[in-house]
Amino acid sequence: MEHKILLRETDIPRQWYNLAADLPTPMLPPLGPDGKPVTPDMLAPVFPMNLIEQEVSTERWIDIPEEILNILYRWRPAPLRRAVYLEKYLKTPARIYYKDESTSPPGSHKPNTAVAQAWYNREFGIKRLTTETGAGQWGSALSFACALLGLECKVFMVRISFDQKPFRKHMMAVWGANCVASPSTETNAGRKVLEEIPDTPGSLGIAISEAIEQAVTDSSGQTRYSLGSVLNHVLLHQTIIGLEAKKQLEMAGEKQPDIVIGCAGGGSNFAGLAFPFTADKINGADIQIIPVEPAACPTLTRAPVHYDFGDTACTTPLMAMHTLGHAFIPPPIHAGGLRYHGMAPLICQCVVEGLFEPRSYHQTTCYDSALTWAKTEGAICAPETSHAVAAAIDEAIKAREEGNDKVILFNYSGHVLMDLTGYDDYLSGKLSDYDLPEEELQKFTKDLENLPPAEQRKSGRW
Ligand SMILES: Cc1ncc(COP(=O)(O)O)c(C=O)c1O
Repeated sequence: MEHKILLRETDIPRQWYNLAADLPTPMLPPLGPDGKPVTPDMLAPVFPMNLIEQEVSTERWIDIPEEILNILYRWRPAPLRRAVYLEKYLKTPARIYYKDESTSPPGSHKPNTAVAQAWYNREFGIKRLTTETGAGQWGSALSFACALLGLECKVFMVRISFDQKPFRKHMMAVWGANCVASPSTETNAGRKVLEEIPDTPGSLGIAISEAIEQAVTDSSGQTRYSLGSVLNHVLLHQTIIGLEAKKQLEMAGEKQPDIVIGCAGGGSNFAGLAFPFTADKINGADIQIIPVEPAACPTLTRAPVHYDFGDTACTTPLMAMHTLGHAFIPPPIHAGGLRYHGMAPLICQCVVEGLFEPRSYHQTTCYDSALTWAKTEGAICAPETSHAVAAAIDEAIKAREEGNDKVILFNYSGHVLMDLTGYDDYLSGKLSDYDLPEEELQKFTKDLENLPPAEQRKSGRW
């Protein structure tokens, strides 16, 4: 039995997988301010046309340009590891595998799309990218990609994380990016929020508004905006994770996983691992696929499916998704990357179909699982990743109780090494759990009444 299953560089996937080609029911289109479907031209001030083409593509396979692969070789193919020490500790008959995305230079899965997005922007003649970041993983990933590809990078970092996680800022600075706390005084969107709520912890929705505003108001036309999750092309770039994992499971002698798990903020790491297996499920495979989110930000488990904006200032197209409402200000839990009000529409469509079984956990349960992980496997995971660890542990215990030798696969989306404050708070008993009260949920989703409803399309097969 191998502890780590490694692919040769020559075995790296050379195409991304696009789930949009295989969905049993077609996606609802994003809508413009007039309520009509947006056209690619309308997105052109925000994204380069080559990425817009990927966003709307329904081709099943999309070639990965050689130059992108050449950058990814720095850490890809990423190891698939077997969590033997955790298995032993839990006395479970389950075999637990995890795809180790923490081996990238910035420490998470995010560079898989950061490199691709920076490359496509550079090909299109763009010189500068703007973006938002929650925990700082995405901001540092895009800073890293821009440094390698010679682009300028501006990052709006959610205020609470800017204060809680100072080391990510230093990483961005090393890679030459400019990072400011959001809301900032640099944009109309930021100034407006600061006037209304001066001591706001910020949110991803606000930071997105600021980053888009800076991109579209650059009169040189050489700035575009880059999003770290949610959109179809971002999820597409992450599918290299699941495609590698499939080959590696085969090398380990496993026919298929029984359970696939990933934490879900905007949905990209979960989708990256899960989508290639979702294709198998659509074709008849029996696989349980579980996105995991915080109970404090219960998008998939409690929010309605509705058309909503992706940002607080209502500048993005309307997307059909599970949403807590674009004005949602999440409680300051430590998993900064899991505090987004919406979710990738492709994932939401799969939840509506019944292909995925979303689940939520409290943060103390997640930190408790992360400690078990650190004391068995040795590594210390990111607060976001601890949600996937918690679900994997639960499933392994269930397998023990049922006497079932299940194959569990989860995405180890990142390490914690710039982000240890949450562990300190947990160990000193300062962390508390938080269930989003029903009144709060009702308050933030009230505005949705003024937006178009989203028809729930379902084939009835799951
Ligand atoms: C380590 C890690 N995992 C998961 C996430 C969640 O994002 P997504 O759902 O897009 O993968 C983040 C976001 O910042 C992250 O930093």
